[in-house]
Amino acid sequence: MEHLSANQSGVTTWASVVGARPQFVKLAPICRAIEAYNRNGGYPQIDHRIIHTGQHYDRAVAEIFFVHMGIPEPMCNLAVGSGSHGAQLARMVERLEPALLSVRPDWVILYGDTTSTLAGALIGARLQLPLAHVEAGCRSADLNMPEEQARIVADHLSRLLLAPSQAALTNLHREGIGVKQDPRNRRAVVVGDVMHDALIQHQELAEQHADHTLERFGLESDSYYLLTLHRAENTDCAEHLCKILDAVGGLDFPVLFPVHPRTQKMMNSAGLSLNGRLRPVTPLGYLEMIAMEKHARMILTDSGGVQREAYYLGVPCLTLRDSTEWPETIELGANQIVGTDPETIRAAAQTSRKRGSWPVNMYGGGDASRAIVSELLAGCQRHDAPEAAWTVSAEAWSKPMFDGRP
Ligand code: UD1
Ligand code: UDP
Repeated sequence: MEHLSANQSGVTTWASVVGARPQFVKLAPICRAIEAYNRNGGYPQIDHRIIHTGQHYDRAVAEIFFVHMGIPEPMCNLAVGSGSHGAQLARMVERLEPALLSVRPDWVILYGDTTSTLAGALIGARLQLPLAHVEAGCRSADLNMPEEQARIVADHLSRLLLAPSQAALTNLHREGIGVKQDPRNRRAVVVGDVMHDALIQHQELAEQHADHTLERFGLESDSYYLLTLHRAENTDCAEHLCKILDAVGGLDFPVLFPVHPRTQKMMNSAGLSLNGRLRPVTPLGYLEMIAMEKHARMILTDSGGVQREAYYLGVPCLTLRDSTEWPETIELGANQIVGTDPETIRAAAQTSRKRGSWPVNMYGGGDASRAIVSELLAGCQRHDAPEAAWTVSAEAWSKPMFDGRP
């Protein structure tokens, strides 16, 4: 199949590979930035295709994000569904190959650290397609985590590394990626966090529904905790999961607990019944979620995305893990690593912490998606060298990217 070069067509084709909830959140602002660029007459125009692996498939963790965040229809849904690590990864790689070959994109864009990221990296590299990794360079230093494995593979195979922070860039440099002597001449650059963009773009709309959402759960602002828990290390052992839920359920205010499908499955199979102040609910849509995050007195989570949202929203956060890929939130006092020891969780939750007393621009000011599009455009030029015949029109970039659409 012929590789369409933007030099000949005036169009550059990019394929975003996504499949799990946090990837839809990261994808949404990128789609907006691309749409705004195209609408403003940017040259070349970007033909952006979304390939949904189908890793997440329940409406509450997948489709609802496309609807609430205005993400365009995917080009295809590979419907890989759930399964063992090997079965899920194998199905993904097998089904991604023809999808990517049918497009032969100028960029394959990978997001974060899920199995969909790993599969996209493996098959994209095997097909010798240029890979760009959004959220590059994050490390927990725990190679047992599937997420850490996916990050490392995606980072090492990518040509363009889009790091959310200086610390992430330093991690990449430490691994020889994007340094002067890098034999693969990879580009690693700090662009900020796209999840901050997503939050800024949806916060106002979410706030309009906040009263209704609080009422729906019978909660009052600043009078409840918000809990999310889904990482394998916390959910795969029933005894461990039970211990965490007991500790959080014993806190002094109600605990809203949107239950991830993985956690629900574990709770069902272990026959766990929830006591205390825990209020389990089905996973929330993005708008409801950020509204409930904003009004919580504190957030307890093992989610990477939710830790950062707590930080941006000025809500104190306890991280129910032994490490985080977001060390800046700890240094600023916005977040605290508490692990999963019940006594530590209780003591930390009941130590009063001041809301919003930290600067929120540690991962950029909400303009990461635009920086990413700019880097991708410039990168096309680089791998279309020697002619480098097309440029990002200065006029297109000088126009405002966002026109206030919801
Ligand atoms: C995945 C990511 C994790 C990320 C999380 C975000 C991997 C290895 N892990 O974890 O990094 O933080 O997504 O939410 O990619 N299930 C359903 N319905 C669904 C999806 C999953 O019931 O729509 C259940 C299935 O029983 C499945 C289990 O959840 O076996 C786990 O799903 P999976 O996609 O393998 O990983 P997550 O735990 O969701
Ligand atoms: N989220 C949501 N509803 C929920 C739980 C999470 O909309 O019930 C959003 C959350 O606001 C954040 C993203 O999902 O934007 C984080 O995804 P998740 O916690 O599943 O994955 P992680 O960030 O840990 O990889």
